[in-house]
Amino acid sequence: MRLFIDTAIVDHIREINDWGVLEGVTTNPSLACKANRNYRECVAEIAGIVDGPISAEAVSLEAPGMIAEARELAAIAANVNVKIPMCPEGLKAISALSKEGIETNCTLIFSANQALLASSAGATFVSPFLGRLDDIGNDGLRVLAEIVEIYEYYAVETQVISASLRHVQHVVGSALAGADIATIPYDVFKAMARHPLTDIGIERFLADWEKIKDL
Ligand code: G3P
Repeated sequence: MRLFIDTAIVDHIREINDWGVLEGVTTNPSLACKANRNYRECVAEIAGIVDGPISAEAVSLEAPGMIAEARELAAIAANVNVKIPMCPEGLKAISALSKEGIETNCTLIFSANQALLASSAGATFVSPFLGRLDDIGNDGLRVLAEIVEIYEYYAVETQVISASLRHVQHVVGSALAGADIATIPYDVFKAMARHPLTDIGIERFLADWEKIKDL
């Protein structure tokens, strides 16, 4: 499973990218709002930091507007793909963009049926939102597993990005379910690296080293 970061905050992207684990970035208007800067400039900077796919989101509600926005966003850099929301107008836009060779990430996916429609329209990626499903008492990991199973059954090329991840168990669950990619918030990346036994182990090694270093 490839690891993407789900943020528009460039300092966070640089920090995790320096770990050597990052293969892409996803952004959306809410994340750009947290970064509080011009969206297109921000996407251009991110595309220069990380080699892999960078998702930038279109905000039009009609297909022609989505397509026009997608062309502009995709022109920012070769590794930029365009997030299009799941809806009938979004499907029309995804279909047209796929014929133009512009990569798309169909976002706001909450069911396997929506994922089936998105892949049939030609989406490069689909993003099921696990945390938001859990928020309303559904099982996000279950929906993810259904999508992965169906795509494997029919050898669908659309890649599944497990999104709206809130904690480390969402990441492990996504890997076990067979997601192609997990897009992970900065704080969850930091939590993944931590374990109390690792901290205790380092302390013990250092304490023992102090005892023998001058022998
Ligand atoms: O990638 C989708 C993600 O940004 C949504 O996360 O926590 O707002 O549901 P959340």
